[in-house]
Amino acid sequence: MTLEEKIDQLIQLAVPFFEGASETGLITGPMASLGITENTVHNAGSVLGMAGAQETINVQRKHLENNRLGIPLLMMADIVHGFKTIFPVPIAIGCSWNLELAERSAEIAAKEASVSGVHVTYAPMVDLVRDPRWGRVMESTGEDPFLNAEFARAFVRGFQGTDLTHDYDRVAACVKHFAAYGAAEAGRDYNTVDLSERQLREFYLPAYKAALDEGCEMVMTSFNTVDGIPATGNAPLMRKLLREEWGFDGVLISDWGAVKELIAHGIAADESEAALKAMVAGVDIEMMTSCYTKHLSDLVRSGEVDVALINEAVMRILQLKDKLGLFDNPYRAADPEREAEIVFSDAHRAVALELAHRSAVLLKNDGVLPLKPTQRVAVVGPFARSGDLLGPWSWTGSQDAVVRLSEAVRGKLTAPSHTTVAIGCGIETEATEQQWLEVVQAAQDADVIVLALGEHSDMSGEAGCRADIRLPLAQLELVRRTKALGKPIVAVLFNGRPLDLHGVFEESSAVLEAWFPGSEGGQAVADLLFGDANPSGRLTMSFPFSVGQVPVYYNAYNTGRPQGAPDAQVRYVSQYLDIPNAPLLPFGFGLGYATFEYEGAALSSDTMTPDQSLSVSVRVTNTGAVAGEETVQLYVRDMSGEVVRPVKELKAFRKVALQPGESEEVVFELNESQLRYYHSDLSHASDAGAFLAFVGPNSRDNASLPFRLVK
Ligand code: IFM
Repeated sequence: MTLEEKIDQLIQLAVPFFEGASETGLITGPMASLGITENTVHNAGSVLGMAGAQETINVQRKHLENNRLGIPLLMMADIVHGFKTIFPVPIAIGCSWNLELAERSAEIAAKEASVSGVHVTYAPMVDLVRDPRWGRVMESTGEDPFLNAEFARAFVRGFQGTDLTHDYDRVAACVKHFAAYGAAEAGRDYNTVDLSERQLREFYLPAYKAALDEGCEMVMTSFNTVDGIPATGNAPLMRKLLREEWGFDGVLISDWGAVKELIAHGIAADESEAALKAMVAGVDIEMMTSCYTKHLSDLVRSGEVDVALINEAVMRILQLKDKLGLFDNPYRAADPEREAEIVFSDAHRAVALELAHRSAVLLKNDGVLPLKPTQRVAVVGPFARSGDLLGPWSWTGSQDAVVRLSEAVRGKLTAPSHTTVAIGCGIETEATEQQWLEVVQAAQDADVIVLALGEHSDMSGEAGCRADIRLPLAQLELVRRTKALGKPIVAVLFNGRPLDLHGVFEESSAVLEAWFPGSEGGQAVADLLFGDANPSGRLTMSFPFSVGQVPVYYNAYNTGRPQGAPDAQVRYVSQYLDIPNAPLLPFGFGLGYATFEYEGAALSSDTMTPDQSLSVSVRVTNTGAVAGEETVQLYVRDMSGEVVRPVKELKAFRKVALQPGESEEVVFELNESQLRYYHSDLSHASDAGAFLAFVGPNSRDNASLPFRLVK
């Protein structure tokens, strides 16, 4: 390969650049003119955002004709929570606490994507999130490092399987966004991140590391700075930590335009310096800008870039192509006929339905739920008939195929005519007089009003940040007016972030957080409302009391003046004067139609040693009238660390399915390695001394059990 041919392997271009493409593909960033030659396109290494078997075959075929060396293109795309069969958004999948189903969803996404020509998915996104103003919280599984790491592993297993070379039903995974993208200041996308290295290692890095330990093939850089250096030009982060310390030798790709953005960040004077910094930092593929193509050869000739760096980068890309079998079969699994059979199959949709059942979180229920088939139900609100249930990153899915809530509710009633429907208002636009009249009519004879509310899918996701995380005012007004009609309200929320629920929570008899539940969302919600499925989701991100608390998360540090301490003063404590410190709904919280009692929480010993673990046990009984699934959660607190420690840290969880009246003894093993954390010198170790273990149904309501670690 000539130097230029090697360098061109390092560019990634979106679909419209390629001959044979009939569609524009997915555009997820600025389409600035790249100023590249036709030759660069013919030598380019990979494509962004294309899917569809016939189209990828066409593009690959044309490319192989044009490429002197016959090197096939890698086809990459954002297949984040499903391909045609759209699963709930990842924050919802997180709320299922169900790793098997998460893995299965990724496996199905991979199968559908692969047959449609995709080789690599830019997923999983495993950024730890604490700020619901940030639109991308919907792509993460939440605020806990342990749980995020478990999900990261599950998604990678599902996407990649165990043999990418021979298993054409799988795709390579690309974990993103390295690193700490979720900590963007003020919840504003692309914004600065400034964390201590201890914070970074303790909270933000574990999930990326877990994905890589599971064999994830690729990593994507993040847009933000990490300790003052934008990730994409951050040699300490990429070369030292990712490559040297963690031993990652796979392909590292920039995010869209992030190499050139080193100029706007202010660490590169021009495109040439941006190329230099990104290459030195270890970025192999430059996504959608052309700094490498335009400047790397001169940088090599001037001696500023060692050609060995370019050789390594190209080799990694070629090795990935080889691993995916592209040199033997550049079309890999792309097959229009098989595509038609596989995508959106009944079997895949059944899994999407099950995951939607398990992802929804029942936040409140005064007994109005489950509804009865004999009731008269008015389905009111902008989501009553909406197909916008797929959420961001569902560009390959189709809203036309989405089961609508009003239809699914109709199917539940013994007399289908007992369902009335009214939109009430737009998602962000106030009710017209006519719309309000329709609500009044719909509600007239109803026993209960299901208010289907939420955010449209562009209100979250990339660049979907909001400073006011209440429902749009038009919908709050709809709630207020509907309440005045005097019927019980069941609020169903379709959205991509924890919301400030004032104006909905107190007004409603029940609140079901459905998130963006995916292709089968309408059916899943109706099943849950009528008790044909029992809500079992548990929040993985705290719901703030109001946006003024943000960030508010369960695994926070105490302060020297905590609220509620026995000797606390009235005023001089860490608190707000106008709102509580606690979120409205804590991490781990969720209700169902069964009720569970916890009794006899106990430790096997009050002492742990490095060689001797403890067991933490508790008896859980279903005291309700229906079968249900409980998520039993184990937390720990280190009472006297070398540095301050979170007031609670999730260490394990167990799901138990119990019939009415049935009990189960849940036993967790807890050992010394689970008590380790990063000290001030960044050593990862535990401290001898006092700890508390907590076991219970969420991060707030749990029994505490003291023990000591003796070394
Ligand atoms: O994968 C995405 C990334 O998450 C955000 N920017 C664009 C990329 C490619 O579409």
